[in-house]
Amino acid sequence: MRDSERRTLRYKIENLNNLPTIPAVLKKIIKLLENPKTSLSDIGNFVTSDPALTTKVLKMVNSPVYGFPGRISSVSQALVLLGLNVTKGLLLGVSVFELMHKTMTGLWEHSLACAICSKVIAKDLNLKDPEEVSIAGLLHDIGKVALALEVPEYYQGLMEEAKKKRIPLFQVEDEHFSFTHAQAGGWMTRKWNFPRTLVDVIEYHHSPSLSKVVPDHCAVVHVADVIVKARGFGYAGDFTVPPVNPAIWEKLQLNEEKILHILKRLDEDLAESEGTFE
Ligand SMILES: [Fe+2]
Ligand SMILES: [Fe+2]
Repeated sequence: MRDSERRTLRYKIENLNNLPTIPAVLKKIIKLLENPKTSLSDIGNFVTSDPALTTKVLKMVNSPVYGFPGRISSVSQALVLLGLNVTKGLLLGVSVFELMHKTMTGLWEHSLACAICSKVIAKDLNLKDPEEVSIAGLLHDIGKVALALEVPEYYQGLMEEAKKKRIPLFQVEDEHFSFTHAQAGGWMTRKWNFPRTLVDVIEYHHSPSLSKVVPDHCAVVHVADVIVKARGFGYAGDFTVPPVNPAIWEKLQLNEEKILHILKRLDEDLAESEGTFE
């Protein structure tokens, strides 16, 4: 891809909400997120004014993606528990769900499994914000949605190339675009004024040692992504299981016993969430 084409594609990715195929509710959500003055109560009012969105938000907060004890029945209660950063991510998560389904079969399942696995690992490691790590896991591949929407045939071709050559999709993206879905996701979410902690994980989930903002979160989502691919949950556009960066194994100190425990919890939580998001 020539430099000028690359710049144009970046511009389109950063202005994804100009696409006619973006649902009206998602356009409104992006506008709301972009405004730095948006507060938790603005988001609460927005969600409760839309019954379909309210149902989706409540389903998500009561799913194993979060794992709060007891049922949460009101949006305002949920948002207070989650805080502004996680709420912003959650809002985007529930609204890109249908787009994920449409653009790449299996991407939603991959993302959901990655969210749950990230939460399980974060809890195992006693990280401070397991809900935030979970939502970062849910959104980590959002750049793929942008690419699949902006250059659908071209991106389909890249997935076929990855399959034929048995190499990771991000490697094929890099060869063609000189950037990957991880960078694309970083560009668009930064443009939307997304919390830096989430942008960082989206941007560095394939190169976690480059993270400056939340290296722990990046390391967890990087490992969770590999685990869910190895276990065959969902489909993320290729059939490879990239190796975990050795420094990251070391950093997280995951031994065999811990991994077996994580896999068991992942299976249980996924079974529990089955059918929740259809
Ligand atoms: Fe990825
Ligand atoms: Fe992924």
